[in-house]
Amino acid sequence: PTLAVVVVAAGSGTRLGHAEPKAFVPLAGRSLLEHALERIFTLAEPAHLVVVAPLSHRDEADRIARRVAGHASEHVTIVVGGATRQESVAAGIAAVPDAVDVVLIHDAARALTPTDVFERVVERVRADGVGVIPALPVIDTIARTTPDGRVRDQVDRSELATIQTPQGFPLEAYRAAAAIASPGHTDDASVYAAAGHPVVTVAGDDAAFKVTTPWDLRRAELLLARARP
Ligand code: C5P
Repeated sequence: PTLAVVVVAAGSGTRLGHAEPKAFVPLAGRSLLEHALERIFTLAEPAHLVVVAPLSHRDEADRIARRVAGHASEHVTIVVGGATRQESVAAGIAAVPDAVDVVLIHDAARALTPTDVFERVVERVRADGVGVIPALPVIDTIARTTPDGRVRDQVDRSELATIQTPQGFPLEAYRAAAAIASPGHTDDASVYAAAGHPVVTVAGDDAAFKVTTPWDLRRAELLLARARP
């Protein structure tokens, strides 16, 4: 394949209130990671998959990925993540085969991200050779506040967007950008942009929300229950 998807699943997910790492928390009987991978393996274009797992769940990630991949298992690599998301992404990127020209980086926690979001991102990277991120308009009014809880001012929300994953990049340019990036980036587009590369948005999807709190897990359960025939 000339497309790779790096799925970062090495976070602890303490806000979810489960003992296991977040990507391995069950949702309607299957792990978040399994839900995320199912939506990647329905992509029309074949992809090499790199799953970045916690050391404690390396074998479990391998079992899950091979189960979902089926006959495409030869295109699956499992690596162990790091202390921050940025380090986990670096470990994943290092494992992408060199024949690949476009890489998508995706949070396992965005387990219900529909396949067509992946397709939109790949298409735009291939068409324009830019960094591509799924985005949604901000619905709430946003205020800048002080540490003691006072409102300083409001931000014009028409200038703001909520950023999701998968984020897509030309592989070689992304690798070069990551090699010179300072620590502290919370997403991949900021790593890419910091090296001076353009980043554009495509339409995200409400279903691509990041499962972070028990309330998010409940929302995901309700969405899946409704989708069943
Ligand atoms: O912590 P947060 O919700 O921002 O994590 C986003 C994604 O990054 C999750 O899928 C999580 O598993 C992953 N992550 C990781 N390694 C870390 C921290 C987070 O792979 N050290």
